[in-house]
Amino acid sequence: MIIGVPGETEENEDRVALIPPIADDLVEEGHDIVVASGAGEGADWKDADYEDVGCEVVDDRSEVFETAEAVLHVNGLGASDDPDTDAYTDGQIVVGMLGPFSIEDDEMQALADKNVSAFALELMPRISRAQSMDALSSMASIGGYKATMMAADELPKMFPMEMTAAGTVQPADVFVIGAGVAGLKAIATSERLGASTRGHDVRLEVKKEVESLGAEFVELELPTEGSGDDEGYAVEMGEEFYEEQRRQMERVVPESDVLITTAAIPGRPAPEIVTTEMIEEMDDGSVVVDLAAATGGNCEPTVADETVVHDGVKIFGPTNLPSRVSHTASQLYSNNMKSFLDLLLPDGELNIDLEDEIFDSTLLTHDGEVRNPHIRDDGGGDGDDDDEEAESDEDDEGEGEDDE
Ligand code: NAI
Repeated sequence: MIIGVPGETEENEDRVALIPPIADDLVEEGHDIVVASGAGEGADWKDADYEDVGCEVVDDRSEVFETAEAVLHVNGLGASDDPDTDAYTDGQIVVGMLGPFSIEDDEMQALADKNVSAFALELMPRISRAQSMDALSSMASIGGYKATMMAADELPKMFPMEMTAAGTVQPADVFVIGAGVAGLKAIATSERLGASTRGHDVRLEVKKEVESLGAEFVELELPTEGSGDDEGYAVEMGEEFYEEQRRQMERVVPESDVLITTAAIPGRPAPEIVTTEMIEEMDDGSVVVDLAAATGGNCEPTVADETVVHDGVKIFGPTNLPSRVSHTASQLYSNNMKSFLDLLLPDGELNIDLEDEIFDSTLLTHDGEVRNPHIRDDGGGDGDDDDEEAESDEDDEGEGEDDE
């Protein structure tokens, strides 16, 4: 198969979908790889590195779309401000993080009309067989790490306890809300740096995981039954639940020097958990990193991709931290991509087995049709949802982009 890497067009996107060592494996397996010049630069991979492993490097990225049978992206379609919809050719395969919850209907139809088979890696089912292809998790883990590092860098206090001749320094208090992939990595990183760390989640089954990292689990008195699904994702609760959660958070949040929020529900706006009043109760110099900024934020004052200083507290709303760890992020993303390609191209030949849950879940368009009913049913695109409270919440917050 001819596999193309056109490179990323998003501002501040430094990751690349395929790094040379993984391209090397694909070339060894008999595939041809076409890479746009400069595609790997942001992740410290030069054109020469691709050429050394047998890739063809072309000057114009449009050549990649014209030549390739399969195009690999980091951000494509709905996950990109400048999607390549027009560039895809008839019958092409497109794999990447495609922003399935924010992709426009007409864009999806345009792809179907071109017979494009588009696989959105964000829809990878959380099953053990698919773990090695779960790009969302590998990127979230990097995001969690970087969020803690950012906070440690910004906080005018040290994270660890220090007993020195000049006196004793108490450890910083770090509180992580949402203990999924990003949250657990943020907790682990904070613990490694020596901070006194606490974590909270509505899914009580993660309590043990938080504690096994050495952190304290903050359990609130909430009716959490039914707050999680089988795949380890949260389910949207009613507004009354969130009101009660915010009420109880008033006590916990102000005790923290650092707040890292990662609470998310797939395809829905982020739940608002931290109010402006809570932030006003935090000490001057405290730091908030809101990882859910791209979907509206967990904190009331968060502005995506901006730093807000409110009452002496710095609130960061970064939407693409993995790109700031571009080398590692590209390495893990390429590994995820390779595992997916291994399934898609058994013995080097394309085989889209629609009976396979992995393809059934991730395939947005195929064979001239828009498919994947999951997105619509989950209320990501059309707001056609029975839950009125959830709808009004969505109206308030707006539909955000599903950015990793
Ligand atoms: P995840 O689904 O693994 O974890 C989210 C966690 O939030 C779940 O454990 C869930 O139970 C919890 N949660 C949901 N509602 C809650 C509530 N009301 N209170 C407390 N906990 C609640 O998701 P993952 O992969 O960890 O990502 C988390 C967020 O971080 C997502 O919004 C993701 O898009 C974002 N992210 C942002 C990055 C950035 O650079 N800004 C990088 C990577 C991820």
